[in-house]
Amino acid sequence: MTNAQRPTVYRAAVLHFLSDPDVDGDKAYQFFEDGALVVEDGKVVQLGEASEVLAQLADDIKVVEYKNHLIIPGMIDTHIHFPQVEVIASYGEQLLDWLNNYTFPAERQFEDKAYASNIANFFLDELLKNGTTTALVFGTVHKQSVEAFFEASEQRNTRMICGKVMMNRNAPEFLCDTPESSYQDSKELIEAWHNKGRQLYAVTPRFAITSTEEQLQKAGQLMEEYPDVYMQTHISENKDEVAFVQELFPDSKDYLDVYDQFGLLGKRSVFAHGIHLTPREHERFRETGSSVSFCPTSNLFLGSGLLDIKELEQEQVAYSVATDVGGGTSFSMLQTLNEAYKVTQLNGNKLSALKSLYLATLGNAKTLQLEDKIGSFKQGNEADFAVLDFNSTPLMSLKQSKCKTLAEKLFAMIILGDDRAVRATYVAGKLVHDRDKSSETAGGAS
Ligand code: GUN
Ligand code: ZN
Repeated sequence: MTNAQRPTVYRAAVLHFLSDPDVDGDKAYQFFEDGALVVEDGKVVQLGEASEVLAQLADDIKVVEYKNHLIIPGMIDTHIHFPQVEVIASYGEQLLDWLNNYTFPAERQFEDKAYASNIANFFLDELLKNGTTTALVFGTVHKQSVEAFFEASEQRNTRMICGKVMMNRNAPEFLCDTPESSYQDSKELIEAWHNKGRQLYAVTPRFAITSTEEQLQKAGQLMEEYPDVYMQTHISENKDEVAFVQELFPDSKDYLDVYDQFGLLGKRSVFAHGIHLTPREHERFRETGSSVSFCPTSNLFLGSGLLDIKELEQEQVAYSVATDVGGGTSFSMLQTLNEAYKVTQLNGNKLSALKSLYLATLGNAKTLQLEDKIGSFKQGNEADFAVLDFNSTPLMSLKQSKCKTLAEKLFAMIILGDDRAVRATYVAGKLVHDRDKSSETAGGAS
């Protein structure tokens, strides 16, 4: 065995999921209080009790130990806008005015590739700082915004899915493309970036309001020509939005039907929000394997409504969890799960810590059809992981010392945790964020 191929052992408490804990209970996850995760060539080789794993390995094996920490698979964010970093915390509006007053002017700047690169780098470092290693990401209408994003992601070797926004009406002239140019630009981006290293492409019509039928038809054509790319858009986030869609598409059965008519539904199709869906729309989600992306911090911040995830479960509609920065207010999936818990409470239901962490890892990977690559420590998976600190703040430390069960400890981590709780983040076995080192030495590509 040459030096370059030698494995590294990460020793800490380790948790990952095999299935949904609401369905399979204790069989749904593996937890090792003193665990060892063995990584080689960027892949997971083995996971088990440290005493057993270490006994099988050479005495001089490299061991990185994180005492009082928990290793989990890198978290996955299924809906986020990289050009909206600076839109976070914009006061006073609901969706349509928020888009016009804050979001569209901010997105205009991404015409400038250098600006886009700068923000893409900031954005990716922020995700990694929060333990998020994969995301499904909106660019802007500008092709170069997505090139800037993929270049920045490629440098870090992160597995990212991104797409150029297609929009040709009900937006300022300076942000509009045409059906033909959006098709051409998207096609060129797919050819250049889809499956290049760890990068993946998503066809990205912004939402039904900002595309004509001709443009949605082009989006559908792309999905037909490239059946393994993703599709991301928004749906039924806000009641005024839903009413406007009905005005624009008077012949469609409902909001989802607009997308359905153009062939945009399927297992790789992710629809952000879906708060105000009808039973018929739920049925089409189920039939086509399309998924809803639940964005609690955004839904609360923009006053959009309370998504009922228990109803989605009853209707067998697949769903995932996401931040939706900059309508969302945090890059942290822990904080996002915190707010998801509260939204679920307001709907009269419970969201357990185990279910929450399942969603942020394997559950989200499944809705992206990526469970054979990321989301768990299955042997051969890509070794993306986050190291969480049970003593990240005095309050976290105090609370953790009072917790007796794993469920209690994880729940406190979710409710009190944020980027301070992420001690380190690894991408394909490489350290990409080290909280306790300066950002210059740890962040970004190295
Ligand atoms: N609907 C259409 N565009 C957007 C967006 O940028 N953010 C949110 N939250 N909803 C949208
Ligand atoms: Zn969004």
